[in-house]
Amino acid sequence: MEKETIKKNLLEDAKTLVNQEMLNDFRVKYLGKKGIVTELSKEMKDLDGEGKRELGKTIQELKSLVEETIFTVGKELHDKALKERLEKEAIDISLPAIPVVEGGLHPLTKVVEEIEDIFVSMGYDVVEGPEVEEDLYNFEKLNLPKGHPARDAQDSFYIEDESILLRTQTSPVQARVMDANEEKGPIRIICPGKTYRRDDDDATHSHQFTQIEGLVVDETISIADLKGTLEIALKKLFGSQREIRFRPSFFPFTEPSLEVDISCFKCGGTGCSLCKETGWIEILGSGMVHPNVLRNCGYDPEKYTGFAFGLGPERIAMLKYGINDIRSFYTNDFRFLGEFKRKDGDR
Ligand code: DAH
Repeated sequence: MEKETIKKNLLEDAKTLVNQEMLNDFRVKYLGKKGIVTELSKEMKDLDGEGKRELGKTIQELKSLVEETIFTVGKELHDKALKERLEKEAIDISLPAIPVVEGGLHPLTKVVEEIEDIFVSMGYDVVEGPEVEEDLYNFEKLNLPKGHPARDAQDSFYIEDESILLRTQTSPVQARVMDANEEKGPIRIICPGKTYRRDDDDATHSHQFTQIEGLVVDETISIADLKGTLEIALKKLFGSQREIRFRPSFFPFTEPSLEVDISCFKCGGTGCSLCKETGWIEILGSGMVHPNVLRNCGYDPEKYTGFAFGLGPERIAMLKYGINDIRSFYTNDFRFLGEFKRKDGDR
């Protein structure tokens, strides 16, 4: 075949190549074992001198043309395929992301942690005690012997016989810590935990609830320490503008006993529905540790004195967050729990 015809055909063929398969066939057609250019080069052996050089040049030119075509068309095909794939697999970044469900702390956990932080910053240790408790610690050592009328207010769930029960208060942790202290030295603790009472559940009562107990025992502890400590803690918890009021009360394990109120944070003390028009909100019970309790736990009441307090995180959370049904804490309604999700800056 004439050199010019081959070239013309080759250029015509090159225009028709639209896929990798055709590109392969094209290569075979010209450069394969029996390809047109290969066949042409077989003619070399019959030539010499000028003719050989001429043919050599032609073959070289045709080969280059084939290779260039394969290279350029191959690249075009590859780019086109890539473009199509990118378009097909494109991620639509305008689509809204699937929301990540983020957990949050339970409101009671938040209140307990806040109170722990306040007391830990004053040097207290956090101690926990058992929920299944002995009558000995829950009542007896706390100056509530069998038959004491104050036991009636704390009806419990008994385990097997009447000596083991679900603790009705966190106060037994006081007795446990004093008992376990071998040197009978100073103590400064708070004890958060679950407590149980045989109660009919309603908006303000729950058969299971939480308490935080506090106990300080040392050689020179006076009622001034109790008042100062609780005043600082309650102002940190409810705001420095709060006024604190101490009222005489009765608990078997303290003498004297004091009920602690804060000025109403809703009306500022003028009287509203939250404080039942009194201007004051009852927050916790406290008192100087009864000498009998110290004695029951191996402490010499002539040498040691102490103060104790007990508060209910449910009540504090209800007041702080305006919750009006205690059962909301335990029914696991996500709409309720979601209200307390950690906000930026929360611990
Ligand atoms: N344990 C008491 C209760 O459940 C609360 C309490 C009052 C604890 C006075 C104390 C305290 O430690 O001193 O009602």
